[in-house]
Amino acid sequence: MTRFLNMNSLLKYSANLRFARHLSLSAKMNAYKVENLLVIGSGLMGSGIVQSAAHNNRNLKSIVLQDISEDALNKAKSKIEQNLNKIKQKKADTNIDEIVSKITFSTSIAPKSTENLLIIEAVTENLGLKQELFKDLNQKFKDCPSVVFATNTSSLVCKDVAKHVDNMDRFVGLHFFNPVPLMKLVEIVVLENQTSEETYEAMANFVKEMGKVSVRCKDTPGFIVNRLLVPYMFEAISMLERGDASARDIDTAMKLGAGYPMGPFELIDYVGLDTSKFICDGWLSKNYNIIKESKLLNEMVAKGRLGKKVGKGFYDY
Ligand SMILES: NC(=O)c1ccc[n+]([C@@H]2O[C@H](COP(=O)([O-])OP(=O)(O)OC[C@H]3O[C@@H](n4cnc5c(N)ncnc54)[C@H](O)[C@@H]3O)[C@@H](O)[C@H]2O)c1
Repeated sequence: MTRFLNMNSLLKYSANLRFARHLSLSAKMNAYKVENLLVIGSGLMGSGIVQSAAHNNRNLKSIVLQDISEDALNKAKSKIEQNLNKIKQKKADTNIDEIVSKITFSTSIAPKSTENLLIIEAVTENLGLKQELFKDLNQKFKDCPSVVFATNTSSLVCKDVAKHVDNMDRFVGLHFFNPVPLMKLVEIVVLENQTSEETYEAMANFVKEMGKVSVRCKDTPGFIVNRLLVPYMFEAISMLERGDASARDIDTAMKLGAGYPMGPFELIDYVGLDTSKFICDGWLSKNYNIIKESKLLNEMVAKGRLGKKVGKGFYDY
């Protein structure tokens, strides 16, 4: 009987322990569940992120889009309205005013609440600029226990971007794709021995709540997609430089022979030749042996042939 009692209390004790662990884990998870969102930088990516969040994430209590430029904020607002208008043509019940009214447009870094706040940095791809911004954010929010910092950089090493951040367990890469409202993927970049599992889990949940799909990857140059895509684009330019085939034929070949929705030159024109060059220069300056400098790309950028956004790149638009 004594033995039975002992065994019984042991079982109870271990059940209590499991329950206590479960409670403490849930408490931690609750602490990391995103409820407030602040996106910094209202360009192509920042505006797309807040549009998707306002449209799809019903658990957010507030969404703020911040930019240093009032003009950029105005453009972001009309771009979001335009995009939603297009969506409304296919889905008549889309309530544009309701979605837009969830977003606060602001020139100052003023989240509605620091409780379970996610701050996504989506400013211009410049290491110094991003480092200074995170230095400022670190000063402002380092004593707020449930603030997570994320960078949307596409080519920089997240660890370098976070140079001045103290709480690295709550720092993560959140790499959205362009155009954000249409592209389903988000790469969650976990910094080794730094980003905590709770932060990762909270980001995976946040991405799901936005109706998107996440993949987990390490903080390596180009993460997954750009690490494979950028060398492919640069090899296509090398083929053109060598005279192996025309841009049009290379594009046709990859679309019809490999089943890609766009050829490499259509893709570079879409991404921007300047952006492609910026990624290349950044990787070369770090001595990553991934791609070689392209004379043709440099010449085209110097001539202002930056791609679709300016009406001319490898093709004229
Ligand atoms: N364009 C893409 O295809 C793409 C895809 C994935 C990720 N990204 C990354 O997203 C980030 C933003 O890219 P984008 O294409 O949206 O750039 P963009 O040039 O369209 O927008 C950048 C915005 O940042 C603002 N800004 C600059 N400094 C600021 C500061 N200190 N505080 C607040 N706002 C500031 C600018 O006014 C501008 O509105 C970059 O890191 C880029 O690498 C871009």
